[in-house]
Amino acid sequence: VHLWGRACDIEQLHQIASEHGLFLLFDAAHAFGCSHRGRLIGSFGHAEVFSFHATKVINSFEGGAVATNDDALAEKLRTSRNFGFVGPDQVVALGTNAKMSEISAAMGLTSLEDFDDIVAHNQRNYETYAALLDGVPGLRVCGPVANERSNYHYVVVDVDAATVGLSRDELVAALQHENVLARRYFYPGCHEVEPYRSLYPDAGKNLPVSHALLDRVLQLLTGTAVGPTEVAAVCGLVRLIVGAAPAVRDRLTPASKMP
Ligand SMILES: Cc1ncc(COP(=O)(O)O)c(C=O)c1O
Repeated sequence: VHLWGRACDIEQLHQIASEHGLFLLFDAAHAFGCSHRGRLIGSFGHAEVFSFHATKVINSFEGGAVATNDDALAEKLRTSRNFGFVGPDQVVALGTNAKMSEISAAMGLTSLEDFDDIVAHNQRNYETYAALLDGVPGLRVCGPVANERSNYHYVVVDVDAATVGLSRDELVAALQHENVLARRYFYPGCHEVEPYRSLYPDAGKNLPVSHALLDRVLQLLTGTAVGPTEVAAVCGLVRLIVGAAPAVRDRLTPASKMP
């Protein structure tokens, strides 16, 4: 939503949830260390869920964390993480095996120690992309929200297909052809996958902003394994592809072409 310069209406979601007695949960998988209106992500709604998957800014191989200010919920989660045990031979609730292994915890701690360096590295990558793609017609490297904290975890590019002369999908296909692992992120939309697609077949009609994002967002490589040399190479390729858009289009397979 920030792509269009509009702030997320988290406050409105809070209001709707409290009016209707609903539980408000946020998927904060990728948002560790970011803020919204000056408040760190992790403190909104009844609970927020972070991912520590290897692709995330804090990496414990697999795993994550639930952040909540609700003590009763926190206790319930702690219990269910360990099969519902509260003491030896004492099971009081339905549970699962969601404990973090020692090796994952050790890995998570090392990335927590390096968090500031990882963010600084990603910020440099973002700034290099923004500088090297500046002025490419139809492409806009989306910046962080003003006065908010960002972890620079993603480099998101907004693709205006009409101006570029290639759709986002065509651009992704051309980059992937050159072994650049550009992605459409997040794709497909939640409402386009099962079970939601079958349960709510008309949901898409009410989601014009989601649909616009699904068609326009390009995600470029970043992270600590990527530095200025790789970023410059990717930007050079992007410029080459966009500069030769009609010829690139002609050579793409029909499946990856814009309708
Ligand atoms: C927005 C979002 N939600 C959920 C997930 C899933 O996280 P995990 O792989 O830790 O289950 C991801 C990870 O890719 C994500 O980016």
